[in-house]
Amino acid sequence: MDLLLTDDYGAMSLAAADIVAETIAAKPDAAVVLATGETPVGMYRELSARRERGELDLSHLRVFQLDEYLGIGPDDRRSLLGWMCRAFLGPLNLPDARLTTLPGDADDPHAACQAYAETVLAAGGYDLAVLGLGPNGHLGYNEPPSDPLSPTRVVDLTVESIQSGAFYWGSEEQVPQQALTAGMDLLLAAKRTILLVSGPHKHAILRRVVEEQPTPDVPASYLQGVDGVTILADRAAWPNEE
Ligand code: PGA
Repeated sequence: MDLLLTDDYGAMSLAAADIVAETIAAKPDAAVVLATGETPVGMYRELSARRERGELDLSHLRVFQLDEYLGIGPDDRRSLLGWMCRAFLGPLNLPDARLTTLPGDADDPHAACQAYAETVLAAGGYDLAVLGLGPNGHLGYNEPPSDPLSPTRVVDLTVESIQSGAFYWGSEEQVPQQALTAGMDLLLAAKRTILLVSGPHKHAILRRVVEEQPTPDVPASYLQGVDGVTILADRAAWPNEE
């Protein structure tokens, strides 16, 4: 695991876009799992701009959803898939066969999780995981405690995640209490991973990710033992360090 520090959020977003572009240059049909949230927005904007300028061809990507709220369909304003389509995927017009979702409104969400995991494995695993760091150390919605073998599954959200979700959806009452998440087993097996971390509010949890013995209480800490992981953090998230 490497820690790559950038001066600010803009530089972090550019560095992240560079890593995605390198992955695609090496493998145009790379299997990528993509995070929602505030932190990757700058990276998505940069990738979209490069695509519009004809510098980047995203049309062969195989995209995997990272997480979704249980009981929420794609047309619900809180759908994480809907968010991803608005933020990034919409203009790509990916054929359905190249987009693997975690359907929150499936009749049998447990079977849907299993089918998702089988599709990831059939693709040979993720070539690239683009992840954010939850304030409680979660990866996707692998909430603490999650061990490295936690499968793709339905989880109960922690109070911290519900509070973070309220920022997006208006109030804690509007935030679903459960979610489907890609498992730790799949995420930790990604060939390349970038973990994007920005802002002073992430400093304390980032320190735990980097410096503590890996623990289920900070699921992202298990990235420590994994090859091909780059933490991209801005100075606000990792101050006064060289
Ligand atoms: P954020 O979310 O990028 O909105 O801070 C990160 C996360 O909760 O995984």
